[in-house]
Amino acid sequence: MSNELINRAIKIIEKNDFGTYTIPTEKLYPFQWNWDSCLVSLGIAHSNEDRAWTEIETLFEHQWSDGMLPHIIFHERDDGYFPGPEVWGTNTAVATSGISQPPIAGFVIYQLFKNAQDKSMAKERASKLLPLVAAWHDWFFEFRDPASTGLVSIIHPWESGRDNSSDWDEALDRVPSNELINYPRKDTKHINPIQRPTNKEYGKYMALVELFKKHKWNNKVLHDVSPFQVVDPGFNAILIKSCFEIGCLANELGFSEISEKSFSQSKKSLSALETLWNESEGQYSCFDRKSKTLIKSHSIGCILPIFANIPKERADSIVSTILKLEKECKYLIPSHSPVADKFDSSRYWRGPAWLITNYITIIGLKQSNNSKLAERIINDSITLVEKSGFAEYYDPITGDPCGGKTFSWTAAMVIVFLKYKSNTMLQRDS
Ligand code: DGY
Repeated sequence: MSNELINRAIKIIEKNDFGTYTIPTEKLYPFQWNWDSCLVSLGIAHSNEDRAWTEIETLFEHQWSDGMLPHIIFHERDDGYFPGPEVWGTNTAVATSGISQPPIAGFVIYQLFKNAQDKSMAKERASKLLPLVAAWHDWFFEFRDPASTGLVSIIHPWESGRDNSSDWDEALDRVPSNELINYPRKDTKHINPIQRPTNKEYGKYMALVELFKKHKWNNKVLHDVSPFQVVDPGFNAILIKSCFEIGCLANELGFSEISEKSFSQSKKSLSALETLWNESEGQYSCFDRKSKTLIKSHSIGCILPIFANIPKERADSIVSTILKLEKECKYLIPSHSPVADKFDSSRYWRGPAWLITNYITIIGLKQSNNSKLAERIINDSITLVEKSGFAEYYDPITGDPCGGKTFSWTAAMVIVFLKYKSNTMLQRDS
């Protein structure tokens, strides 16, 4: 069964392969997305290391001169997506969006390097990517943390990768928008609208894009002019982990300056992350930088910090929080607690389970010696795919497929999980 599933997963990624980059899925997302590509490369690496490196290199070919790595690269024209390149108006040689996405590339590059069969190719390609990813991390600290707190803000919900999470509701309410404008959305033509963000949310997303465009995508001012500035613990944990992993990689490759700087960035942010700890909820909280308040919410973003090397007692509390969620739904991990008021089992980031956030959590569980729970989540993930195919996300109560079909990062995660399971079995047998 597992070989058959791996072969199906490989076929999906091949179908979405445009030669030097992979689209998330046809029609709904016809371009290259930043963290999709990074996570997909982990799956590709099991059958084609060369192609896995190319995926990341293509992304970094479109890094901005200030260091930002955009969230979408519009390689080829496709009218099936809104907002397209002309709406963003970033004026880059190959059109890109003007905001970023969770910085998982550093972690991924070190994974590709450590697990490479072809060590000399890995060394050569990682050495070229290393200064680029370090520059992207520097960009975050310079432009998304102007007060040098150690934690970076997202200035658009799309930057979080968890677009319509209820974590953003209050901050987004303050973004002025014109509710009379009817944006020509394409996503709801491809997908059942009840599984997508609402028109009201899209109005706010577009108002932010228009504001940033008015400021000519100048990152020196965007953070401060944005009415939406939220510190997302999951996002910061991904940055902290990537800085740490890049520190290790730089150390192995002899880039001592990058190594020292990356370790110190990671250390400073990890200690700042403590300010977001919410003892009574047993998880972290988002922080609204405009209203200066912690956001009360039970989202996967508040669990993801287990991915960074958080203190053991924090990891233990997060494990208890996940075990509570286990009683509230059939398939782990819902993106919002099923007992929270705003939970919606099928609407994008307001409840459904995603294999990529499962993966990020699993890495954290394994590194904090919680392998049993990690295996439970791997098994749920595989069951979801066996039951409902390679969907973008899944209803955590019924296991029904939601969002796009034949999704690249779901396929990649299946490959990673099944390889992990067979290696664990081999270790147990030997
Ligand atoms: C979308 O269009 O839904 C994307 O998630 C934005 O990046």
